Amino acid sequence: MKKTDWYKDAVIYQIYPRSFCDSNNDGFGDINGIISKLDYLKDLGVNCVWLSPVYCSPQEDNGYDISDYYNIYQRFGTMDDFKVMLAEMHKRGIRLIMDLVVNHTSSEHDWFKQVVSNKDSKYRDYYIFKKGKKNGKKPPNNWTGFFGGSAWERVGDSQDYYLHLFAKGQPDLNWENPKVRSEVKNILKFWLDMGVDGFRCDVITLISKKQDFKSRFPALALCGKDAYINGPRLHEFLQELDRDVFSKYDVMTVGETVMSSLDEAKKLVDPKRHELTMIFNFDHTDTDNYMGVKYLRKKFKAKNLQKVVTKWQLSLHDCGWNSLFIENHDQRRSVGRFGTCEEYRKEGAKMLATLYFLLQGTPFIYEGQEIGMTNAHFKSIDEIVDIEAHNMDKLAKSNIFLRMLIHGSIFDVSRDNARTPMQWDDTAYAGFSSAKPWLRVTDNYKSINAKESISDPDSIYNYYKKLIEFRIGNEVIKNGTYDVILKNYKNIFAYVRKYKENELIVICSFSKKDTRVKKLEKYNNYEVILSNYKDNLATILKPYECRVYSKK
Ligand code: NOJ
Repeated sequence: MKKTDWYKDAVIYQIYPRSFCDSNNDGFGDINGIISKLDYLKDLGVNCVWLSPVYCSPQEDNGYDISDYYNIYQRFGTMDDFKVMLAEMHKRGIRLIMDLVVNHTSSEHDWFKQVVSNKDSKYRDYYIFKKGKKNGKKPPNNWTGFFGGSAWERVGDSQDYYLHLFAKGQPDLNWENPKVRSEVKNILKFWLDMGVDGFRCDVITLISKKQDFKSRFPALALCGKDAYINGPRLHEFLQELDRDVFSKYDVMTVGETVMSSLDEAKKLVDPKRHELTMIFNFDHTDTDNYMGVKYLRKKFKAKNLQKVVTKWQLSLHDCGWNSLFIENHDQRRSVGRFGTCEEYRKEGAKMLATLYFLLQGTPFIYEGQEIGMTNAHFKSIDEIVDIEAHNMDKLAKSNIFLRMLIHGSIFDVSRDNARTPMQWDDTAYAGFSSAKPWLRVTDNYKSINAKESISDPDSIYNYYKKLIEFRIGNEVIKNGTYDVILKNYKNIFAYVRKYKENELIVICSFSKKDTRVKKLEKYNNYEVILSNYKDNLATILKPYECRVYSKK
């Protein structure tokens, strides 16, 4: 087996299966629905899919709570359906990366069920159990989790608690136990032997925990994070997976990192260290909040985004590889975000697409992003399904301080904004299903849908097609250097990429108004090869205008 760098020419499309396409009309997306849309993906031009979890699961966290790693959740279909999907993807030159969720299992996983019913079960040490304080009345320490509240859950009225950094139904695995690591390797081999091309590794930087399990100084959010983020054996565990599994297949891995510093990230993706191919870091999506907490919203500034993107572009050039994204299933939609607005939906969406697509790294597109789907504009918590939003809502209702701090943001930043059914056409339920979907369709589906986008040559979809075609195999984008230009313009993020004698200049305006930029005259002799406007003025950028110049 020869290891290749195929991921450097990949454009990856993320499918959130329950929201993508419903083939059997039960209001819930499925694998056959995905198969029916593979020609759509082929036409768009992507060459890889990241599939959010389709394994058996009670769906407390929409599949990120796995009860059986070797089988498919029955509402998504069967293993045979999965195999057909994989073959149909490969036939079209589309690779598949699976979601790997191994920081935790579901509490419905057989291992956990056995532990709860029998304290002496051989699986006890697969999880993290500790004795509670005060005869079991209080949790073992004050750590809090990602969905708010204590990270510990008591087992019945015993003295025992188990650690869960997410929902109660997602007990954390004990990676200190070599048997757990060996189970993970078996899971990986099972799917790789079937032919999948890699993994997106869910919250992978949480797998190693400091073993003191002591209380920490109280914190507003994620109390104890120094103990469970980037723990002491993280790198060792990843190297072990690489040595025993990943190095034997031509695969790529992308690790979701939570609050990883650049130094930590560099270690994770340094090819010499054999850990991960690339990581998802959230520095850029955190530019509109305080302390990485999305509910604490901060005014967006293009220059802050520029600063963060530049830091990662420069730091990983030649010693790692970036992932590039502006949306996923945990983020609200990019239309109306990052300084853009729904009034200039098309201009803003194309501008953001241009900005991140021409950087060095592998771009990811989240389903619906390519047609400029918007937030859902929820008006009540009853419209939302996501467990995270419900937990936060409960917390806010029980605590006046939290209520003041976060309540206004829950609907706007809810993850369900990205999880509404894919808008395929203007028929009932947006062509996603003929039955009422599990989450309501966004009202604007009659005008914003794939059918309309495909037929309009000026659509966001057709713009993405051009971008994808332009970038695959382009050496400047793949290997070129990166430098910021037009530094002194508050609402402009512009950069130049250079490789040998080739040069690409990318100019993006984040302003809703015309912006005069005298310095653009410098590029009079260059050719505009892409733009979100038909005519480009010599020294004026129109609202959210982007243009890409190439040296003639
Ligand atoms: C990150 C996933 O992207 C998110 O959807 C999930 O809730 C958590 N990890 C827990 O698995």
